[in-house]
Amino acid sequence: MEVFRNWTNEHRQQFRKRNIAVQHRLSETGLFTDEALANLLDRHPSSKLDVMTMGSPDGPYPNALQDGDPRGCSGKVLIEAAKAGRLWINVREAMNIYPEYKRVLDMMYGEISERTGIRRFNAKGGILISSPTAVVPYHCDAKETILWHIRGKKRFYAYPATSQYLPDEGYEAVVLRERDEDLPYSPSFENNAEVFDLEPDQMVSWPLNAPHRVENQTYCVSVTTEFSTFASAFKNGVTVTNGLMRRKLGMNPSWYRDSLPAKAAKFALGQVLKKTPMYEQSLRDSFMTFKVDQKQPGYIVNMEPVLRHF
Ligand SMILES: [Fe+2]
Repeated sequence: MEVFRNWTNEHRQQFRKRNIAVQHRLSETGLFTDEALANLLDRHPSSKLDVMTMGSPDGPYPNALQDGDPRGCSGKVLIEAAKAGRLWINVREAMNIYPEYKRVLDMMYGEISERTGIRRFNAKGGILISSPTAVVPYHCDAKETILWHIRGKKRFYAYPATSQYLPDEGYEAVVLRERDEDLPYSPSFENNAEVFDLEPDQMVSWPLNAPHRVENQTYCVSVTTEFSTFASAFKNGVTVTNGLMRRKLGMNPSWYRDSLPAKAAKFALGQVLKKTPMYEQSLRDSFMTFKVDQKQPGYIVNMEPVLRHF
């Protein structure tokens, strides 16, 4: 089976340089039906399962994702909850753990390698199961990420990876894991958004770290894949150093202003800093604030925040 339906030479030239959308055939594998997913969820370890909902739509971080307790629900109930509630479920690494899904992941990246000439990827892939009203807040990913949308409809908004949309301090917070992957948002950003109305079996790919957000229009199933490249590892190493310089030393460093030799020195330093308590201390604890309960109308019941220790 060929994964892509309408890959062109233009896609080849623009891959990771521009935002592109391409049609694929992942739904034909039969691995993403509700039945297959319920079965998968029943096998999946809760340490690699995120069940999230969205917070207030106001403030600098609108709709920030909140962690729920993923334990104690059957796959069937989780699928029902995704259809009825306001949930964003990430079955992390599902595409790597199970052989039938891994075969598909290898096909996806095999075909990208073939079509772009880029060889090794070591991609990780998660499956996203999300509610008709779910949104993903404005954020960026610290690795090279692709969204393979499979079922339902969602609107995807992509923004330029420039200092206005991706400020130094915001990206440092992502790399230091201070607050998930959220970035501060302003409605004025919409002037420069590129919008994709994703149909079933359509993938969208964007340049490294380009901020984006998503609004679901129906119940949705998608796959998200990420991989590291030298470019992403280099930038993240520099960013660890910059983030700690700002936070521990009160300085005002900038990825955008630094020369290449300065970045190279900071990258080397970042490799050392990552092994020190300075870096460890900046990593945030994660708290679960709700659980899924099939007796509630939206399948969500709030609880006292509990530290996620798994
Ligand atoms: Fe993302």
